[in-house]
Amino acid sequence: MLIGVATSDDVGVYVLNEEMALVLTTDFFTPIVDDPYAFGQIAVANALSDLYAKGVEPLVALNLVGFPAKRLPLRLLSEILRGGSDKAREAGVVILGGHTVDDLEPKYGLAVLGLARPAEIIPNSGARPGDHLILTKPLGLGIITTGIKRERVSPEIEAEAIRVMTTLNRAAARAMRQIGVHAATDVTGYGLLGHLRNLLVASGVSATIWLSRVPVLTGTWELVAERIVPGGTLANHAYLAPFVDWAPDVSEDAQLVLCDAQTSGGVLIAVASERTEALCEALRENGALAASVIGEITAGAEGRVRVLP
Ligand code: CO
Ligand code: CO
Repeated sequence: MLIGVATSDDVGVYVLNEEMALVLTTDFFTPIVDDPYAFGQIAVANALSDLYAKGVEPLVALNLVGFPAKRLPLRLLSEILRGGSDKAREAGVVILGGHTVDDLEPKYGLAVLGLARPAEIIPNSGARPGDHLILTKPLGLGIITTGIKRERVSPEIEAEAIRVMTTLNRAAARAMRQIGVHAATDVTGYGLLGHLRNLLVASGVSATIWLSRVPVLTGTWELVAERIVPGGTLANHAYLAPFVDWAPDVSEDAQLVLCDAQTSGGVLIAVASERTEALCEALRENGALAASVIGEITAGAEGRVRVLP
């Protein structure tokens, strides 16, 4: 094993020889949008994201499916799987098969395998003081999907959130391989600051985040002002409190956005500052949704985050 749970990395890596390692990950969850086809696409984009965050191209996958066949029409399941297989095809991933169980709620995701040279796999542990932090998708997906469930979101905002969640993180993987970066992770359930903290602890460094530079989805601020926020986001905020120094004028609304639990969020990258411009250009050329410089790695106490306005 090269990397895995000890450094909170997103994947398991099993080294076969100096030239080749197996890179494995899995992810599955219950529907977060009503449209079964979109849910299938989101579940696959999200499951592949852990490999892309390590700079690795996924190769093959297996479907993991739970479905209440006695309670819901089977055409919903075939729509979920059609969304998943279309997204996998876009990624160039072959779904070899899978397994379905009878379940109380629908669940869908993948077990994914990629191959990579061990030296090319981007770890959580490589961030160094002076590195810039780059984010490749806007935040607010947890807040917006909660707003969708409570019917408080316009069709335009819902469509934009689905577009973001169904976008593969392949652009980030390609840009990182082209330019060379120190560390990377994707931003999912623990929110931006939770995943940042894992990266900082693994690297033995601290960081400063510049709130005004962080991209946020349209509609997020209105919902968070009314406390339409998922439970996971509130839990992240409480859990991270001892590790974060909030500047006095960083509002509680902003704190919740930075801790918002994402589904199929972007990649958070630590890159040497002299390569920042080249990385952002490569991200844009490859079609990333954002290439935002949101902060920097510092040499302070391990795992601490300072948030400035
Ligand atoms: Co991940
Ligand atoms: Co994951």
